[in-house]
Amino acid sequence: MADSCASLLPLAWDGSPLQSMIHPAGPAAADIARLWWVMFGAFTSVFVLVIILLAFAVWRKPDTATVAQANMPPWGKTGFIVAGGIILPLLIVTPLYIYSLTTSARLHTPKDALTIRVIGHMWWWEVRYQDDSIVTANEIHIPAGVPVRLELTSADVIHSFWVPRLNGKRDMVPGLKTAFWIQADEPGIYRGQCGEYCGTQHANMAFEVIALTADDFTAWQRARTQAVQTQSDEQHRGAAVFRKAGCPQCHAVRDAEAVRTVATSNAGPDLTHLASRRMIGGAVLPNSRGNLAGWVADAQGIKPGVKMPRTYLAAEELHDLVSYLETLK
Ligand code: CUA
Repeated sequence: MADSCASLLPLAWDGSPLQSMIHPAGPAAADIARLWWVMFGAFTSVFVLVIILLAFAVWRKPDTATVAQANMPPWGKTGFIVAGGIILPLLIVTPLYIYSLTTSARLHTPKDALTIRVIGHMWWWEVRYQDDSIVTANEIHIPAGVPVRLELTSADVIHSFWVPRLNGKRDMVPGLKTAFWIQADEPGIYRGQCGEYCGTQHANMAFEVIALTADDFTAWQRARTQAVQTQSDEQHRGAAVFRKAGCPQCHAVRDAEAVRTVATSNAGPDLTHLASRRMIGGAVLPNSRGNLAGWVADAQGIKPGVKMPRTYLAAEELHDLVSYLETLK
């Protein structure tokens, strides 16, 4: 069953389904999937029972008045309605209600663990680690096998944080901080998607949770806190283009280049380690040199409505700029 469903869904790099809540990869999502299957089973049984009774009522021969009287259950007409219309539904629905409430409480109770702040923007995700030691975008690196506490909010409109294989949805409301948690049992890549309509590019507001082994996660953290060095002439020229074209007005880059002194805005994604990300543009394009150049030149053509404007650069300037961006590992 699970395998035949999986083949209908887009697959991740490791062949696992990308965004399927019935293919959980962590304890919270497993709780949701279990609840879903129990509900599915219970209500399918009720549906089948109702159809059988309906078919029986339609096809049986009508009784004569005396036979009908004789067939009446001992508790009478009213008793039949009370038993079948009130008591039976209560017996089915009450346990499911309690089960769903207790599951829900588990899903929303954050564990005391590594905290990552995630801020929703139209239409990308700002990601900040404890003490703002690491700031990134559209990719959340977490250690596998342990709970990760999330603090969610929004910079503009209501978004909804949703990684279907790791937990349910949680709204991100401007001016409000909500605590949430996720856990991935195994290292891997789990795609997330904004779960609340938030404007034109809502559907292209995606991200990835990348779960790493404890050692890999420590190494990743260490690499993030090291300053980037610009090297070749081409890259230095690119850094100059970055400043001249106005990129620092929206994008922060914390590097050893002079860019650092001006590039501190968080109106757009932090680009400090851009080159090490798998995707760009809110997980709409793989991070390649060609896509990066296309995005810089005409983000509006790729994702109409984003705040990133078209840039009008000479071919050589664009070339140098992309070379510079590629150094931001
Ligand atoms: Cu953000 Cu939909």
